[in-house]
Amino acid sequence: MEGTILVTGGLGFIGSHFVRHALHRWPRCRVVNLDKMTYAANPENLSDLEGDPRYHLVRGDIADWETVERVFRDWAPDWVANFAAESHVDRSILDAHPFVRTNIEGTRVLLEAARTHPVQRFLQVSTDEVYGDIPFGSPPVSEEAPLKPSSPYSATKAAADLLCLAYARTYGIPVVIARPCNNYGPNQFPEKLIPLVIRNALAGEILPLYGDGEQVRDWIYVEEAVEGIGLALSNGRVGRIYHICAGRERRNREVVELVCELLAKETAADADQLRSRIRSVPDRPGHDRRYATDPRRSQQELGFTAAVSFEEGLRRTVRWYLEHRDWVERVVTGEYSKYYDAVYRRRWGGASR
Ligand code: DAU
Repeated sequence: MEGTILVTGGLGFIGSHFVRHALHRWPRCRVVNLDKMTYAANPENLSDLEGDPRYHLVRGDIADWETVERVFRDWAPDWVANFAAESHVDRSILDAHPFVRTNIEGTRVLLEAARTHPVQRFLQVSTDEVYGDIPFGSPPVSEEAPLKPSSPYSATKAAADLLCLAYARTYGIPVVIARPCNNYGPNQFPEKLIPLVIRNALAGEILPLYGDGEQVRDWIYVEEAVEGIGLALSNGRVGRIYHICAGRERRNREVVELVCELLAKETAADADQLRSRIRSVPDRPGHDRRYATDPRRSQQELGFTAAVSFEEGLRRTVRWYLEHRDWVERVVTGEYSKYYDAVYRRRWGGASR
């Protein structure tokens, strides 16, 4: 691949890993990162790229036509990878509006820009949540399974996918959709399960499990996920959807217990004592019990397989958070803690940490 890649949301968790991956993987490409710098964006995630002539950061909102039009005019991207999204399910339950604006309207604006400034590929980063609950005992779903999103968040992601496919068919935009499973790894904002549990464990707080903790997710290490997403961008077929998943399902309770075990191994903490802080807290309304997507298409067509075991990925993640406690404290003292204290605690009864 060569030319200019427009990455949106490149200061977020997955987006920032993708930016670094893209610069390394495609030495003849430059990356323009359009990021609104919301609470979840962190310029520190890419501070190592400061001064790199192949990397440019533009602050702006993908739902703002003038901003997006200017970026397309100024930088003439050859490739678009749309990572920008409001992504946290709990927040979407409290207020769906930013999700509709960024995830749906933002995607529409980018697609419109790609109509007037043609690109080689428009990669939409979606999610396995668009299928909703996959019943226990049934096989993982294929990319053609019906969309049945359960949360306002996943409904906006499903809507964005449908818009992308409609623009591909109606206007010939060369859209490819990647649907990753749950990502984890360094730099993840500590509102998501794994970094939240690591942080709470280190802070001596409770480890909250929603409901019975028997919900199942498929977990992929973020550095592998961005490799798969990159393959979808460079080699994906137009109009096609690809699961970027590991095919390794874990119950939330197991995940939290494994975090306790690894933290105990890496520190002087006692695993049993950490585990004794696991608490059942009120469930997330509409909580999906299980996600399970079939990885075979991306294996066969993109040559992508997730190789890092969950234990190994989690060990790397735990080590990273142990070595970056200052990073965690900086992010939790900002907008995040305002959300946590003012909104989450009051509305959901405050048992969560
Ligand atoms: O599946 C891909 C999706 O993974 C992405 O599309 C979303 O953007 C991303 O947020 C993630 O969604 P989840 O809702 O699965 O992730 P989260 O880390 O919020 O929760 C993981 C599981 O853990 C879920 O079943 C809810 C549960 N949970 C979460 C938190 C924050 C708890 O039991 N306790 C918690 O404190």
